[in-house]
Amino acid sequence: MSDFDLKGYLSARAAEVEAALERVVEAESPALAPELAAAVEHGLRSGGKHLRPILCYAAYRACGGEAPDDRVHDFAVSLEMIHAYSLMHDDLPSMDDAELRRGSPTTHRVHGVEATTKGGAVLIPLAARRALEGARALGVDEERARRCARLLMGAAGAGGMVGGQGLDLLGEGRALPVEALSGLPRHKTGALPAAPLQMGAVAAAAPEAVEVALLEYGRAIGLAFQIADDVLDATATAEELGKNPSDAELDKSTYVSLFGLEEARRRGRAEVDRALAALDSAGVRAPALFALAHYIVDRRH
Ligand code: IPE
Ligand code: IPE
Ligand code: MG
Ligand code: MG
Ligand code: MG
Repeated sequence: MSDFDLKGYLSARAAEVEAALERVVEAESPALAPELAAAVEHGLRSGGKHLRPILCYAAYRACGGEAPDDRVHDFAVSLEMIHAYSLMHDDLPSMDDAELRRGSPTTHRVHGVEATTKGGAVLIPLAARRALEGARALGVDEERARRCARLLMGAAGAGGMVGGQGLDLLGEGRALPVEALSGLPRHKTGALPAAPLQMGAVAAAAPEAVEVALLEYGRAIGLAFQIADDVLDATATAEELGKNPSDAELDKSTYVSLFGLEEARRRGRAEVDRALAALDSAGVRAPALFALAHYIVDRRH
């Protein structure tokens, strides 16, 4: 184990992400109808670990990217915008029907279902534009900037997060065969935690072998992340999580329900090993990425 100060790293980066989120609100809110602006601001300002932009920042730095911190975050925050929208919709009554998120009432509990549904959707094109313009402002060439926006939208769309959410709902309360659900939905929702790594590598103009290694690392920790979320839902308290555990009640097809707790944990750890092996094979020495991979399965919320 390295003596890397992950706690200090996470809190410094989280403060930077929150500052970037404030710049998003300042830039975008004035153009929105007041009730939409209120829902969007609630979604963007409700805290969280901000792991996706932090992973993007870490990948960009690991690949030698040298732009100033605030510029990097003005690009990476596009990932948090998609994440925020995904949670606004995930908590809606038509999806997981959740009342609590990060220790506070969910967006629709405060601002209503209609504003939350529309406000979430509003964030999608704003995030795409921010990925593109944020990359340009980092000095990334046009082709790579466009690739970054495509990567974000690919991870968010039907082949990624949205597709995973569809399968997640399909697997509710139904005994679908294990082969139909094991891996796939979780791989898909894991696409959003995976995208930051490749986006960071592309923005830093990393050599292809390094980009491929970061993509592999990203896919592995993306899956590990979703497995850990399932394990925590089955083992942690609402106080620890800031959200109510609900997978058992909603009869979701999760890693825990499909494989049991021990096997789910084992698979999560195996993904972390796979992620670190990918870095190793490409000679990427990045203490932050090493520590973040372990944190993803060891976290308590
Ligand atoms: C929770 O994501 C939802 C999933 C995609 C599994 P996080 O655990 O990253 O949530 P916050 O943003 O830190 O609250
Ligand atoms: C959500 O998964 C995945 C997303 C893409 C938003 P969950 O429904 O398990 O997330 P939590 O547990 O409510 O945060
Ligand atoms: Mg859900
Ligand atoms: Mg949920
Ligand atoms: Mg969950």
